[in-house]
Amino acid sequence: MAPARAIRGAVEVPGDKSISHRYAILAALAEGRSEIQHFSSAEDCRRTLDCLSHLGVKVEAENDRVRITGAGLDGLRASRRTLDAGNSGTTLRLLAGVLAGQPFTSTISGDDSLQRRPMRRVIEPLTRMGAQIRARDAEFAPLEIRGGALRPIEYALPIPSAQVKSAILLAGLYAQGATSVVEPVRTRDHTELALAEFGVRIERVDRSIRVHGRGERPPRLQARQLAVPGDISSAVFFLGAALLLPESNLLVHNVGLNPTRTAVLDVLATMGAPIHLVSVHGTSGELVGDIAVRHAPLEGGVISGEAVAQMIDELPMLAALGPYTEQGIEIRDAQELRVKESDRIAALAENLRRMGAQVEERPDGLRVAGRSAGKLHGAEIDPRGDHRVAMAFAVSALAAEGPSVIRDADCAAVSFPDFFPTLERLLER
Ligand code: S3P
Repeated sequence: MAPARAIRGAVEVPGDKSISHRYAILAALAEGRSEIQHFSSAEDCRRTLDCLSHLGVKVEAENDRVRITGAGLDGLRASRRTLDAGNSGTTLRLLAGVLAGQPFTSTISGDDSLQRRPMRRVIEPLTRMGAQIRARDAEFAPLEIRGGALRPIEYALPIPSAQVKSAILLAGLYAQGATSVVEPVRTRDHTELALAEFGVRIERVDRSIRVHGRGERPPRLQARQLAVPGDISSAVFFLGAALLLPESNLLVHNVGLNPTRTAVLDVLATMGAPIHLVSVHGTSGELVGDIAVRHAPLEGGVISGEAVAQMIDELPMLAALGPYTEQGIEIRDAQELRVKESDRIAALAENLRRMGAQVEERPDGLRVAGRSAGKLHGAEIDPRGDHRVAMAFAVSALAAEGPSVIRDADCAAVSFPDFFPTLERLLER
């Protein structure tokens, strides 16, 4: 990665990863053929499609258009082999919810990283609903899920997690009656919006969400024509580059602006980023618009409390901007970052130090010193196989002195296969 002077022009990012997973899963449970446009090109979402195929669903993918012929709520078939979620926590946890309601046993697993990530958070509520789940050390994938008749529960999430909330709501489709989830902090609500879009009765009152399962009026999902907005969590790397590089002026087209995902824009704006939203409109319950951004010096500041859950995937980029800000960036209350695709707190601290930043690593976050601690220099970056760490440091490297090497940079494909060529096309050196 050679340093650059500016990033300019217009860019479109792949379809939102979270929304793509959900549309695919619900289309598989619907009756009729759904068509999904601008489906994410992420490896993670391909894993969801593969798992659905192995469960007997007809999936036809052509570039970013996916057609799914739904099997209906009761039409999935047992997979002959272990379902492979790859690196994707969302695939594994959301499908665990669906598999809990099936009258057969499934095994689902993933790569080394996924096999180290905590699963008790889904095992516990799904077991309460009546599924029988075996896991390595009662915590880790592979999960063997024996589904069956489920009972509804009222569940207060101990940690804010959209994946866990979604697993329970999906299992709730198969439960006799209404299942409720109460979240401690409002997390991304794509599952709720997508369920409503497919015709399921779902209600939210404050932080409680209730889905109606089997009962007098069992849910019947109807096939839909849908378009996925661009992924704000991918867009943020381009925003980061534009903020860092002096002569930048960039437009990111067609980005999802669901209010449960835009906290990162608010924090950047508070730090002084000139970000403007253009042509905002709604599509299938989601908000979409263009994001215009120019270079500006960033003030920095503290990210803590509820905001953390609402920008959890953007924290690597924010931390990597830290050394270029006036005051530095401090992240607190973010212990969840340690159980993502990598231990992101450790990965960020290590690689920031490699570039010469001053970093204090803490159990629940880190403090990255700002500009007064000195300029960053190019370095060899080890993203630990984590796509967001790789992309965050690719951006940080653009404003450093001297070139950097991102080891194993291909891991970006987990969410954004064309990230590096797309970035190169927009850079001016
Ligand atoms: C996601 C939820 C978040 C996020 C992940 C995608 C989702 O995970 O980090 O990248 O699609 O529901 P948690 O639910 O573990 O916070």
